[in-house]
Amino acid sequence: MKIVSTVEEVRRQVEEWRQQGLTIGLVPTMGYLHEGHASLIDRSVSENDRTVVSDFVNPMQFGPTEDLQTYPRDLAHDAALVEAHGGDLIFHPEPAEMYHEGFSSFVDMTVLTEELCGLSRPVHFRGVCTVVTKLFNIVQPDTAYFGKKDAQQLAVIRHMVDDLNMNLRIVGCPIVREEDGLAKSSRNTYLSPEERQAALVLSQAIRLGSDMVRQGTTECAAVIQAMSDHIAAQPLARIDYVKIVDAATMQPIPVIDRPALCAIAVYIGKTRLIDNFFTEDV
Ligand code: PAF
Repeated sequence: MKIVSTVEEVRRQVEEWRQQGLTIGLVPTMGYLHEGHASLIDRSVSENDRTVVSDFVNPMQFGPTEDLQTYPRDLAHDAALVEAHGGDLIFHPEPAEMYHEGFSSFVDMTVLTEELCGLSRPVHFRGVCTVVTKLFNIVQPDTAYFGKKDAQQLAVIRHMVDDLNMNLRIVGCPIVREEDGLAKSSRNTYLSPEERQAALVLSQAIRLGSDMVRQGTTECAAVIQAMSDHIAAQPLARIDYVKIVDAATMQPIPVIDRPALCAIAVYIGKTRLIDNFFTEDV
C-alpha cells in the first residue's frame, strides 16, 4: 500500500494499472477512517483489481463557521486501516495541490441541493461536487463508493454523474452503526460521554419513523411529528431538520407514494449529526 500526495503520482500509478488492464475502484473520504469507510473499501476491493482511497479534508465544502480547523485527522491510523482492508493507494494531497492559486472553476447543482443539508450548509454541495469531480478526473475509476449515511450527497453525486456524462459507476453502501445504533461518523469523536448517550435519539427517531412507515403510515406529517417529538424530549438535542423527500429529487413530499428518503440533522451540543432511512428499505 502506497501513500502519495500529488496528482502526478496518482496519474502515474493509475496509468501503470490501466496498461496492465486492471480495474480501479475509488473510495473518496475526508480521512479519520472508521468501520463505515472500511465497508466501502471492502466493497471496492471485492469488485476491483485495485482500490484508491482519497484522504482529503476538503476546505471548499465547509462554511465559514463550520469545523474545518477542528475536523479530526490521523493519517497513520488511516493508512493502517486501508492496508488492513486491502486498499492499494492513499491519495493524501495538501489543499494547495487540489486548489492551486487562481483556482476558479466549480461544479454546482440546483434542485437536489436546495433542501435538507443544502439549506443549512449553503456552500457544502458546491464544494463536494467540485472536489469529487476533480477526484474522478484524477483517478478515472471504473466505480466509486459512497456511504448512504450522506444520502443527499449520494443522490447529488449520482445526478451529477448522469447530468455531466461522467464515465463511471456509483455504488451506495449501507449505513454502518455502533452496537447501540448510533451511525458511525468521524464527527462522533466530538461528543462528550453525556452527549454520546444523548446522540442515541437520532437512531431511535430513525427506528420510530421506519417502524411507522413499515406499519403502513403514509402521511409524512405524522411520521415527522412523531420523530421530532422524540428528539425534542432530549434536552441536549436541537433539531436542524426532520424531513421526508422524494428520493430522486430531494424535494419534500406530503405523502409517501413513491421511493422516499426520511432524513434528519440534529445538533447534540455543538456537534451536528445526520441519519436517515429510505422508505424502500424499511
Ligand atoms: O463524504 C465525504 O467524506 C466527503 O463529502 C467527500 C465525498 C469525500 C468529498 O470531500
